[in-house]
Amino acid sequence: MSSLFSEITIKNIKIKNRIVMPPMVCFGWAGDDGIVTEKHLKHYEARAKGGVGLIIVEATCIRKNGRNTNSQLGIWSDEHISGLKAIAERCHKYEAKVLVQINHGGFKTHKSVSEDIVAPSDYNDGTFSARMMTIEELHEIQNDYAKAAIKVKQAGMDGVELHGAHGFLISQFMSPVTNKRTDEYGGSIDNRMRFAAEIIEKVKGEVGNDFIIEYRMGGNEPSLENGITIAKRLESLGIDILHVSAGISDGSVPQVPEGFQYNWIVYSGTEIKKHVSIPVIVVNDIRTPERAAYLVENDMADFTAMGKGLLVDPEWAKKAKEGMNVTTCLKCSRCLWFTNGESCPRYAK
Ligand SMILES: Cc1cc2nc3c(=O)[nH]c(=O)nc-3n(C[C@H](O)[C@H](O)[C@H](O)COP(=O)(O)O)c2cc1C
Repeated sequence: MSSLFSEITIKNIKIKNRIVMPPMVCFGWAGDDGIVTEKHLKHYEARAKGGVGLIIVEATCIRKNGRNTNSQLGIWSDEHISGLKAIAERCHKYEAKVLVQINHGGFKTHKSVSEDIVAPSDYNDGTFSARMMTIEELHEIQNDYAKAAIKVKQAGMDGVELHGAHGFLISQFMSPVTNKRTDEYGGSIDNRMRFAAEIIEKVKGEVGNDFIIEYRMGGNEPSLENGITIAKRLESLGIDILHVSAGISDGSVPQVPEGFQYNWIVYSGTEIKKHVSIPVIVVNDIRTPERAAYLVENDMADFTAMGKGLLVDPEWAKKAKEGMNVTTCLKCSRCLWFTNGESCPRYAK
């Protein structure tokens, strides 16, 4: 039986426990250049020192004009490599393994970032709007994901996480709610997956065998049934770890059976785990070490991610191991880290 503190080896990369820091943007910390700052270094180092097994660095943009904010980290230029290298070194010192989440906002690109926002198809929901990208643009963006993955490897990271969840570009292609294309990148599930599948193929062709390729997916894209199909295909495409979060809803969410003690996002992850043999990370409001341990011990997940828990308590993993109480998130209605982490009442500099 695995426990929260069992080691696991993926592609010869040993991860010391099953506690993951999921990607979380540190809003306002980077400048327009998207370069890692000293604050980022201290932030990730503190979680590595605090015992986390696997850290996934926040959404890092593959294109300057595809960012969600002007202060998002970037990976569109070689100038970004040394900052990421410093994060890898600070975390490796404490034997944490580190991946970088790479992303493009698609229609969620902020209007202050670009006046020409692109998406799989024309889009306008009153808040976000974008025009359909051409096939040439689509291929250029796919190539930028591959170039970004190479830079992540050059930075000495242990792998990359493709952000295929939360309604950003890859998720926009995957979901029939937002992908209305009529060419080979829209329509059937095979067509909607093509954008991601070709990126995975390109990334795999560039990074070699000693580098983890993780995929953060929506368990509901837009249904759990679709999520399971997508997960199985991602496994066959050679993805090493699946990280199950939320996708683009069609207005419904997967129904959690009575007695299941976690929310529908965790439920989606545990259902997907039943259908694949690669490791699965579950996430969302897991909160306590007991609840995290239960998921791993009962083979419902291979890893549990702790987001806001690790923002408020960098030593969450170490304390869990020693049976100490962890500091918990206060669940402010909108997490204050979305505007400025320093306004979080639990923030410790
Ligand atoms: C401040 C903040 C920033 C986030 N940024 C990202 C991100 O960059 N990429 C991503 O996939 N999810 C992001 N998330 C979502 C988290 O990774 C995680 O899925 C979410 O917080 C739920 O987990 P929790 O209940 O353990 O906090 C962010 C969440 C927060 C609170």
